[in-house]
Amino acid sequence: MTGRGEGEGGRADRRWAGRIAQAAVVAAALVPAALIVADLLRDNLGANPIEEITHRTGDWTIRLLLGALAVTPVRRLTGWNGIIRFRRTIGLLAFTYASLHFLTWVVLDQGLFLQGDALGYVLEDVAKRPYITVGFTAFVLLVPLAVTSTRGWVRRLGRRWTSLHRVVYVAAALGSLHYLWLVKGEQLTPVWYALVLVVLLSVRLRPPLTASVRRISPPRRVPLPGSAPPAATPVAAPPPP
Ligand code: HEM
Repeated sequence: MTGRGEGEGGRADRRWAGRIAQAAVVAAALVPAALIVADLLRDNLGANPIEEITHRTGDWTIRLLLGALAVTPVRRLTGWNGIIRFRRTIGLLAFTYASLHFLTWVVLDQGLFLQGDALGYVLEDVAKRPYITVGFTAFVLLVPLAVTSTRGWVRRLGRRWTSLHRVVYVAAALGSLHYLWLVKGEQLTPVWYALVLVVLLSVRLRPPLTASVRRISPPRRVPLPGSAPPAATPVAAPPPP
């Protein structure tokens, strides 16, 4: 086999390994949804199954949103570039749980499609209860991000895609606020999620290490015509952009 052939084989192996890892992430993230269905079928969701489903889907929405936001900081801190391929998958899984969470509330809790005037109640609840308004806004913000997550949209939007997808931080902040707002009594879980979000945001806002290395590197000296070539210096060359 030629060296070139081996290279292609290695790339194909890596592609397969990547696909298997993606499938494993999707399968693992769908386990909580499968457990909800299993518990529902076995009548094992407690006294208020709708509330239980709302809580479980809400929990997984915020966890996966934070998971998607953790990808870039983990990549920066560890240098593991391969992790980036999971960002879109985890983001779409977060959106899946957000949709289930929203549908549970809108269909099962509020009875939309079952009662004629339910749409009125839904809109009234969205407008009247601040934590619902905030959660609903977070969900609405996630919709265009999910729609434009395909390669085609990345190409079509170019640089604007990155700006648009920064909205995910706003959605996560609103999701976190929604949780902080709705808890009754002393519950630390939403506070922990909010703290994780603040840490992720601060890591994200910090300039990457490579940028600071580039800033402190001395400028390259351009040799004057006819002068001797500059002596080698112990300073490392700036990293490639
Ligand atoms: C990104 C969007 C959202 C996130 C991250 C989110 C997250 C959460 C979380 C973590 C909980 C609490 C779960 C628990 O107590 O264990 C929750 C509860 C809840 N959410 Fe959301 N949510 C979102 C959107 C929405 C939307 C769009 C609605 C409805 C319009 C909604 C309605 C509710 C309701 C009714 C509860 C239960 C409140 C209660 O226990 O009294 N959420 N959500």
